Amino acid sequence: MAVSASAAGYTLQSPDGNISFNIGTIATGTPVYDVTFKGEPVVGESTLGLVADEFKFTDGLAMTVVGTDSVDETWQPVWGETSDIRNNYNEVLVSFADAKGLTVNVRARAFNDGVGFRYEVPEQRGLNYGTLRGENTQFALPADMTMYVIPGDYDSDEFLYTVAPVSQLKEKMPNPRHTESSRIPGLAAQTPLLMKHPERPLYVNIHEAALVGYPAMAVEIDADAKVLKSHLTPDKNGVRAYLQAPFVTPWRTIMIGDEATDILASQLIYNLNDPSVIEDTSWIVPRKFVGVWWEMFTGGKTWAYSDKYNAKPGVTDYSALPSNGRHPANTENVKRYIDFAAENGIPGVLVEGWNEGWEDWAGYRKNRQFLFDKPYPDFDLEGLVEYANSKGVKLIMHHETAANAADYERQLDRAFDFMNEHGYDAVKTGYVGHIIPRSEYHSSQWMVDHYINVVQKAADHKIMIDSHEAVRPTGLMRTYPNWVAQESARGGEFESFGGNPPSHTAILPFTRLKGGPMDYTPGLFEMDLSSYGQGNTSRGLTTLARQLALYLTMPSPLQMACDLPENYRRFPDAFQFIKDVPVEWRDSRYLEAEPAEYITVARLDKNSDDWYVGTITNENARKAEIDFSFLPKGVNYTATIYQDGSDAHYLDNPQSYKISTKKVNSKTRLKIDVAPGGGAAIRLVPVK
Ligand code: NOJ
Ligand code: CA
Repeated sequence: MAVSASAAGYTLQSPDGNISFNIGTIATGTPVYDVTFKGEPVVGESTLGLVADEFKFTDGLAMTVVGTDSVDETWQPVWGETSDIRNNYNEVLVSFADAKGLTVNVRARAFNDGVGFRYEVPEQRGLNYGTLRGENTQFALPADMTMYVIPGDYDSDEFLYTVAPVSQLKEKMPNPRHTESSRIPGLAAQTPLLMKHPERPLYVNIHEAALVGYPAMAVEIDADAKVLKSHLTPDKNGVRAYLQAPFVTPWRTIMIGDEATDILASQLIYNLNDPSVIEDTSWIVPRKFVGVWWEMFTGGKTWAYSDKYNAKPGVTDYSALPSNGRHPANTENVKRYIDFAAENGIPGVLVEGWNEGWEDWAGYRKNRQFLFDKPYPDFDLEGLVEYANSKGVKLIMHHETAANAADYERQLDRAFDFMNEHGYDAVKTGYVGHIIPRSEYHSSQWMVDHYINVVQKAADHKIMIDSHEAVRPTGLMRTYPNWVAQESARGGEFESFGGNPPSHTAILPFTRLKGGPMDYTPGLFEMDLSSYGQGNTSRGLTTLARQLALYLTMPSPLQMACDLPENYRRFPDAFQFIKDVPVEWRDSRYLEAEPAEYITVARLDKNSDDWYVGTITNENARKAEIDFSFLPKGVNYTATIYQDGSDAHYLDNPQSYKISTKKVNSKTRLKIDVAPGGGAAIRLVPVK
């Protein structure tokens, strides 16, 4: 294999020889590594180490190479951007021993698109467990890298990105505290983060893979030294993790490319996760859905049935309470959504606000709890399930826990049995608020385990999970393919709280989406929320055509059409694209991209020979140049092009679009004008 040992340490090379991962110790016996790409530095000399009350693997260590390995295999994900994924790497396992003979191992893998390494503490005499205080993992930057980052926070990832050289980050990164205590002190960022070299072509994404039994990692940023350092979410006692030997940490991942499209195409994080533990995956069925949802964001409507509530959970007699008349999760309205879904071939309908407990949900602590088997009196669950079945539509369950994860675990068996009894096979979960009663953070070790427990139990019940406000994903969807989507970033809902600037969705695919698909909720057709006359004056910062493109640039096996049926009925020709676009892909090609600026991607439907192309820009107009050479030679296609009208603008004319058809083949080059904040979507059907 392409690795070579040296006295000073060990050099692990990627299969193509472009990436080198060097590991060794310096004079103090401190373990260090560095990474180069095509001979140039990507990560400068950086420390490794683990610190617990019971051990300290930071210095005075001696390194031995334990073994090497090489793997080249191809696996088939249950769903995703491609039907085959190649997993090709060289591996080394090294061991670091202290003076007493206690050891920590580091396993590293070098792929052609980056590296991953993790700590492994074997079972050994004198080391039974660890009360972990921190990790000494550094990432020394090779230059004043341009950073694409959100602030470090233990509870939330729902922030806008700052794009700035690391030297200017302190001045440029706003300090939006999610909660008083969850903000990481000092200059810190969440992963997945993206960096770009100021002079040479180099894009680097730093994240983690297979986050299990361990807290999530953020990074502290030393802007002067230009070093990032791992920062693990603590519990409220300041302990990062309670570990029992043997244990392994998540992989620390460094995705590397000389083109921005390399980062978008990388499957490194999935490759570092274990294969699916679910053998029969036939019940995992990706789908699009509409939902009783946006009504609550446009203003005036509530998840709650009543404006009054009684104190005792489960014994409140709702039939004695008056409905507030602003509760969209009622039988008649849900039928309207089921009809709309059935008419348009949309297989799913999410209903939020169907169950007891919403009267004081945001402030709920002592008085009420959500019950996951108690429909409100105006929601005829059995009748609606039957109605949906008769129309070939599936209802999607909703479990908002208001962050009472312990209570959710208590109710979980019953909640999933209830779903099975009524034929629900997918649930959107939510964790809004501070975690109670344990006083944990959303990204702590205990919560990381909680989300996985839920997903495992759901798998036992053949249920798919879409978790909101959970810890950011780390590729565990390979191991648990029923974990079909997560939010864990600032999603489309923010179009109703001030808007998402267009650059936001031109960054997410380079960062958040590398961990797994996002339930972003695209499909907004009415951007002016004041048009509802409910006091919400927010505007969606997007054109209509861009919303179509998001189905390609933000792929997810569970994909919403977020807007109201009446808005889709106003634009049936544009809605046709949402009806047509698949949610599972046989192949994907990133044609051009630059973070925060533009992305153009082509994808081949998993179940037909139709190709789709999506392109988005940021707040600047742009000419997308689409080279169709990815198409098979000699086949002609009819392209239906959905693009911004020539007068479209995301700020004041978002609903201007035009639809045209063209014959294209592998020799075609198309220039498409994209409006400020705009996009375009193309469907390509082979001519028979
Ligand atoms: C926040 C979620 O992101 C949103 O989608 C959901 O509707 C609300 N919580 C209520 O659960
Ligand atoms: Ca949210």
